Amino acid sequence: MTRHLITSAIPYINGIKHLGNLVGSQLPADLFARYQRVRGHEVLFLCATDEHGTPAELAAKKAGKPVAEYCAEMHQVQAEIARGFRLSFDHFGRSSSPQNYKLTQHFAGRLADAGLIREVSEKQMYSHADGRFLPDRYIEGTCPNCGFDSARGDQCDNCTKQLDPVDLINPHSTISGSTDLEMRETKHLYLRQSAMKDQLEQWIDTREGWPVLTTSIAKKWLNDGDGLQDRGITRDLDWGVPVMKGDQPWPGMEGKVFYVWFDAPIEYIACAQEWVEAGKGADWERWWRTDKGAADVTYTQFMGKDNVPFHTLSFPCTILGSGEPWKLVDYIKSFNYLNYDGGQFSTSRGRGVFMDQALEILPADYWRWWLLSHAPENSDAEFTWENFQTSVNKDLADVLGNFASRVTKFCRSKFGETVPEGGTYGPREEALIAALSQGLAAYQAQMDAIEVRKAAQELRALWVLGNEYLQEVAPWTTIKTDAETAAMQIRLGLNLIRLYAVLSSPFIPDASAELLTAMRAEGAEWPGDVAQALQALPAGHAFDVPEVTFRKITDAEREDWQVRFAGVRS
Ligand code: MF3
Ligand code: ZN
Repeated sequence: MTRHLITSAIPYINGIKHLGNLVGSQLPADLFARYQRVRGHEVLFLCATDEHGTPAELAAKKAGKPVAEYCAEMHQVQAEIARGFRLSFDHFGRSSSPQNYKLTQHFAGRLADAGLIREVSEKQMYSHADGRFLPDRYIEGTCPNCGFDSARGDQCDNCTKQLDPVDLINPHSTISGSTDLEMRETKHLYLRQSAMKDQLEQWIDTREGWPVLTTSIAKKWLNDGDGLQDRGITRDLDWGVPVMKGDQPWPGMEGKVFYVWFDAPIEYIACAQEWVEAGKGADWERWWRTDKGAADVTYTQFMGKDNVPFHTLSFPCTILGSGEPWKLVDYIKSFNYLNYDGGQFSTSRGRGVFMDQALEILPADYWRWWLLSHAPENSDAEFTWENFQTSVNKDLADVLGNFASRVTKFCRSKFGETVPEGGTYGPREEALIAALSQGLAAYQAQMDAIEVRKAAQELRALWVLGNEYLQEVAPWTTIKTDAETAAMQIRLGLNLIRLYAVLSSPFIPDASAELLTAMRAEGAEWPGDVAQALQALPAGHAFDVPEVTFRKITDAEREDWQVRFAGVRS
């Protein structure tokens, strides 16, 4: 038995995530967590909401709520949707937790003591009317390049030119509208990542078998231009973790908070403390401190490619720089983007299908299956309604669902709702068992390697083997001349349903549970030996014909959804 610490990139609090976000982190992380659990390993699977930063402040403002209240509400909303998708977090925490405040301040103190933090004076736009410094996106004005009148401090949305707030003509605060702005001196803390470059590079170079996507992005940041840059880790904002050196005030940093990307990954650790605090676990240190038992933990992180630099460089810099024995990540699984119907999914523009909407139209398993079997691993992938309809109808309804339904219904009509007795396996059954054993080994190998698409293909291939067998031996014909053999074939088929339920559980947990219930299966252990697993339901064992496990998506539905999700979400 091994121990797996698994984290998914923590989603921003500002709104409900789309399916592209889901497939890039939370969903594959859940697949892996479920798989390791069903294989009998010990798992701690953590996720949280990422609650700080300007986007959170802006979203709260738009919702007309105090930011703390907005975050508390949105956390509940995201937690509920995560349950809807059956994301099996051991804890779903919050980066605004007291644990994360304390730990973030602790790390900053350690880094300062190690000489890895320097203070930098810079000029930033200050608004007298608002009594605060304005981050770039709180400033708007006329674009000096194209004349667009609501260009932001960092970029013009019309001509895409990158801007500095000082470039804007007639700049004003988007909070108050005030034009009484002034460039003022402000002090910030910088993490001296450049001083850690060699140590980071050496660490990355010794990681074995990391996905190319992960290492190539890390290498690019390490060696591009002038090499790894120092990074500002504080901001002039109200909402966030107050800048402190451990539990001591930080002179000159009063009223400032840590940058969201500094405290967010630290929440991976704080979340384990929250998990203990919530009474769900006894000891977080055995997962996170290598001096307290975490040395033999395998730690895997899941994320979209845009998150890779923060996880390969910035966060390891925090961890290594602290000089304390924290667990470092062992494997980073990163994903490309999922596109939506010829364009991009976009939260800000409301384009695509969002997690809550998806669950309104179909149960979680349909989405889980499509998303995982089309995970954007080697390149970006695209969601189209046609492809979704085809995959769901073929894989889930025609292959798996149909197998379960044919076997159980045929049995009920000829033998009743108990596993029939009689007959013995012949060469065709031996061949099936051999093929299943081989397929199972291939499936496990892909799951162990977190090759999500390939694992889905291998699982589907296992379902296909059962269908081919059924089609070939045709118990509905056999029974006319040889009832004993037909009984054996159906007994095998019923046992296969149970086996499929066990093997499919990481992908489609609800259908898997339904099938196990229908089979009145007592255990759902992962099979060591296929032949043995196919004896789990003995002759005389009662079962129920399952409800329709998967229904087909009709053309009318598909067309309806295509129209409904063609525009933007308001
Ligand atoms: N909220 C970020 C995003 O959605 C991810 C943060 S991951 C963590 O891109 F490392 F900061 F935790
Ligand atoms: Zn412009």
